[in-house]
Formats: sequence, C-alpha cells, structure tokens
Amino acid sequence: MQDIRIDLSMAVPFAGKEALAEMGKKAELAFQDLTDPEKEAGFKGWLNPMERGEAYRAMMEKAAAIRSKADAFVLVGVGGSNQAARAVIKALQKDGPEIIYAGNTLSAPALQKVLRRLDAKKEIYINVIAKNFETLEPGSHFRVLRDYLIRRYKREDTAGRIVLTGTFGSRLEEIAKENGYTFLEFPVPVGGRYSVLTPVGLFPMAVAGIDIPALLDGALRMKERLAAPGNPAVEYAALRQCLYQEKGFDIEVLAAFEPQLDYFAKWWVQLFGESEGKQKQGVFPTSVSYSEDLHSLGQYMQEGRRSLTETFLSIEEPDGSVPVPKDPAFGDRFDYLDGMDFLEINRAAESATIRAHYEGGVPCFRIFLPTLDAYSFGQLFYFFMVACAISGKTAGINPFDQEGVEAYKRSMFDMLGK
Ligand code: PA5
Repeated sequence: MQDIRIDLSMAVPFAGKEALAEMGKKAELAFQDLTDPEKEAGFKGWLNPMERGEAYRAMMEKAAAIRSKADAFVLVGVGGSNQAARAVIKALQKDGPEIIYAGNTLSAPALQKVLRRLDAKKEIYINVIAKNFETLEPGSHFRVLRDYLIRRYKREDTAGRIVLTGTFGSRLEEIAKENGYTFLEFPVPVGGRYSVLTPVGLFPMAVAGIDIPALLDGALRMKERLAAPGNPAVEYAALRQCLYQEKGFDIEVLAAFEPQLDYFAKWWVQLFGESEGKQKQGVFPTSVSYSEDLHSLGQYMQEGRRSLTETFLSIEEPDGSVPVPKDPAFGDRFDYLDGMDFLEINRAAESATIRAHYEGGVPCFRIFLPTLDAYSFGQLFYFFMVACAISGKTAGINPFDQEGVEAYKRSMFDMLGK
C-alpha cells in the first residue's frame, strides 16, 4: 500500500513568489476553518469516512448477498449520487454482476436500452440513490424500474431486490418502510459530490467487488497526511487559486493517459464545477483522455490561449502489458516499435506531452498513483475533496451549496406541471 505523490514543481514557476506565499496563508486558514470541530458543522460530515461499525457490516452483508445472486445491478442516481461509484467500478471491476446505470438522464432511448438489457438478465437488483428524493431523473426512473421488476417477478419477490439510499426522514425512507425495501443512510451533513465515502458510493462499489476496506484505508491515510505539516491539498489549492486570481489561468484540465480514469474525470469535473462556479467566478474544470484527445485538443493545449492549467494523473505501474510483435516482412514502417510494450510507448507519449505543454506555457500539476487500485482511489477522492473545499473557501465562496442549479429546475418543473 503506497502513497500517491503530488508534484507541483511544473506549475510553481508560473506563479509569483509573493502572491503564492500570500495565497498559501489564506489556504492554510481555510483548511483550519474546514477542520476545526468548534466551527459550524455545515456540510462537513464527509471529512470522516464511514466508520466500520454495525451499519457498515449490515451494508457489506447486503452487498455480498446481492453480489452472489445478481446478474445485473442497476445503480439509479445522478450527479453526486452516482459519479464516484461509477468512476471506481468502471476502472476496477473484474467480475460479478453487470452494473447498469440509470436515473442519470431523461433520454427515452437511453432508458429503453436499459430495459432491453435487463430483459436479457435473470436476477436483477436495483439501488436508488437520492438525497432527498426530489430529483427528476432518479425519481422518474425508479417509477419505471419498480414497475418493470413487479412485472418480471411477483410483487412480494420484488422487495428484496430494491435498496434505497437516502436521508433519514426523507420520502425515500418512508417508501422503504412501506414496501419492506432495504434502506441505507445518506448522511445529512454530506453533499452529493462529497458522498463517495458513505453508503452512497461504498454500497454499489461493494456489489461490484471493489475492495472497500482498502478504499477507506486510502482515504484515512490521506486524511492523516493532510493533518501533518506540508499539507499537499493546501499547496495545490493555493497554487491553482494563485494562478487563477493573479495570472488569469481560469481553466483546469484533468488529463490522464489511461482511459480507465475517464469516469473519475467526470466525478472530478462535477466536484470542482458545482463547488466553485459561483458569483460569476471559478476555475472552469474540464478533462481530456490521452492519447486520443491529443488528436483533437492537443493543438489547443499546445498553442491556444494561455489560460489553461493541466493536472496529470499518472499511473506508475499500470495493470496490463502488450508487447508489439516483430514482423520484418510486413513493411508497415513501425519496426521502431519492435518488442516494445505498450506500457513503455504510452509512458513515452505521456512524458513527451507533459514536457511539450509545460514548455508551451501550460502550468502542469502532476499526481502519481503507484497503481490503479482501491487504495489509490481512496487517497485521490479524499485529496481532491479537501483541496476543492479549501480552494472554494480561499476564493470566498461556499463550496458545499449549488443554488445555481435551481434556476433551470424551476422553469422545467413549470413546464412539467409540478
Ligand atoms: O452534489 C450534489 O449535491 C448534487 O450533484 C447531487 O448529488 C445531485 O443533484 C443529485 O441529487 P440527489 O441525490 O438529491 O438526487
């Protein structure tokens, strides 16, 4: 079990020394404020990952029971209620039930596709995750999926197939009681995008066979690191705010040369976008998946507007190896790759890209993961959540609300006659 490494040396030279020192002080105060138990609790429950007590044991038992029986497990949720679990499952799942995602779109063709996939499965289980059970996508999909299950199995056989994750006191909890469904807690002081280390993220991951103790250990290890001097979350948050406020770097691109991290990037984009995009401010978060996107956005990254920073996630020991076979008679002019492993080729592309972008004027943050596993994911999640909270507080906004998303909802609910 190794620590992830955070290297800011290719971004620091772009910031003014004094400005960075000042921002560092502000970020440190923001961290003290965030972790001070005397200060108002607010939405800070996520700072303490789920404890391994009775509720944890019951959750893991239910997950194991479903895992042993299910052919398909439908994760119904949107935004913070599905992104983290999907990120880890897409990257690490090796066996067990097929995890199908629903409740994250309003598209009829997409929902129809889910139902058709379920038609081919025998044993189906679903987990509906919704903090207050008011969100349109998971609510409407639950209606359809519950009806589907009742038609496929008898009503009395349906109860054991449905797990609901919501806050105590919500309509979802009442529905669980009225129908005999299993209910898991979505803790009130935890916002959706900060919920990965609660049953919201942990339960579906456990069904997919992810090593939950290792993920929690990774998060706790990062918590311990951030409490020690030289806190890398403070340093990263201070640097990105300094580059933004002092030098106009207002776009941060999360980049990885490993498509297994594509869904993690979606989680990261939501975390920073929903937490920081407020009061007409905020670094715009986006992501690229290299090397594919070098052939679409690579040109812009190299020579476009110099307002971008790049945060590279690098896996030091990727799992998987494919050597290029020798074929001297083929004449394809790729003989220079003979015997090389794709691990080596990808690493060369990564190093060359980072060097070129840095020399082209892009501040590059680097995060090294020893391997892509649950322990690394636990560290990454905890690191970015704390860094995001510090960064938002340093910029003077509340990183835990999302009032802005209510605007479109009001007019949509009007149109739908709610
Ligand atoms: O971070 C957040 O709070 C949001 O992204 C929510 O997770 C998302 O809107 C889904 O909300 P709910 O779980 O209430 O359906």
